[in-house]
Amino acid sequence: MEITKDQILEVLTQVTDPRTGHNIIESKTLESIDIQQGKVFLLLNTRGVDAQILSSINFQCVSAIEDAFPKLIVEIRKNEVPRPISILPQVKNCIAIGSGKGGVGKSTVTANLACTLAMKGYKVGLIDADLYGPSIPTMFGVEKMRPAIDDRSGKPMLVPILKHGVYLMSIGFVINPEQAVILRGPRLSGIIKQFLQDTVWPPLDFLFFDLPPGTGDIQLTLVQTLPIQGAIIVSTPQKVSCIDALKAVNMFKMPSIDVPVLGVVENMSWFSPVDAMDKKYLIFGEGGVEALAKEEELPFLGKIPLVMSAGISSDAGSPEVLTNDAFRQEYIEPIALKIIHSFANS
Ligand SMILES: Nc1ncnc2c1ncn2[C@@H]1O[C@H](COP(=O)(O)OP(=O)(O)OP(=O)(O)O)[C@@H](O)[C@H]1O
Ligand SMILES: [Mg+2]
Repeated sequence: MEITKDQILEVLTQVTDPRTGHNIIESKTLESIDIQQGKVFLLLNTRGVDAQILSSINFQCVSAIEDAFPKLIVEIRKNEVPRPISILPQVKNCIAIGSGKGGVGKSTVTANLACTLAMKGYKVGLIDADLYGPSIPTMFGVEKMRPAIDDRSGKPMLVPILKHGVYLMSIGFVINPEQAVILRGPRLSGIIKQFLQDTVWPPLDFLFFDLPPGTGDIQLTLVQTLPIQGAIIVSTPQKVSCIDALKAVNMFKMPSIDVPVLGVVENMSWFSPVDAMDKKYLIFGEGGVEALAKEEELPFLGKIPLVMSAGISSDAGSPEVLTNDAFRQEYIEPIALKIIHSFANS
């Protein structure tokens, strides 16, 4: 009697992906099954899977199938979806910061994280990929500056601006907002690739991409084109913000994007007036982001309060962590450390 794909599928429900604790079908590690002339071919999505985990999955698949169908020969193929990481081979870790909702503090959080990592001695870059409302140049006080052009063997290259120890580029330097409105799909990804390749990026430990808010066409094109290895989602505790944050999580999980979400940050968790620091006003509610992280089985990276001076520092071109040690040590450093660890473990 012929063995069917459904029978193989049933057997493979016993195989656990150690990364998720669920079986390889639920974990979407198994991409397809093909049976031909007494042989079963399994296609596994192995992008980013380390060798030890891969050999455990392989071993479990072969044993499970051979136990159930001793005559069947099992062959495992790997499907490593290519990612455009080679665009920036000199950068170790590329991280996108996204949110579904606008104005939740993505750029503020990114700027403070980047400066904190730079203060710790890491080499850090930050690309403002917000085509419509680039705010990183303002937050670093370089909005009037333009990157220098360096002639490399006859090819003009952009030189990132170094400020507060962070190498900065803004997509606003190469695309003006009116042009951005009409740019779509392949044309946009062509410009972004050029923007990345035609910039003299030094070797970096971390390169952050500050994304525009939302999960529409433009954001999809950006996350498909930028060489992203991990994403961080920022949200306020408000329900409307968390609903949109979930959309951003789902965007990164789409098979055509498939970027691991490193975790979620809650911004504007509470407000304490300067003259009554012991009081905590939960302006946007409580617990929404932690609940989202739990529901989606994602790490909760930390809470950042609404601090009056942080808004003022942003506008003045000097992220809060540069002058407010307590803010850096209590709220931003713990998040930065979790990011360092999540890459060290990957
Ligand atoms: N923790 C905070 N304390 C005080 N002010 C903050 C904090 N986080 C953000 N802000 C202020 O809130 C406003 C919005 O923040 P920001 O521009 O970082 O959000 P965003 O998510 O990047 O917005 P957009 O969606 O427009 O890109 C800014 O004026 C910023 O200074
Ligand atoms: Mg922003």
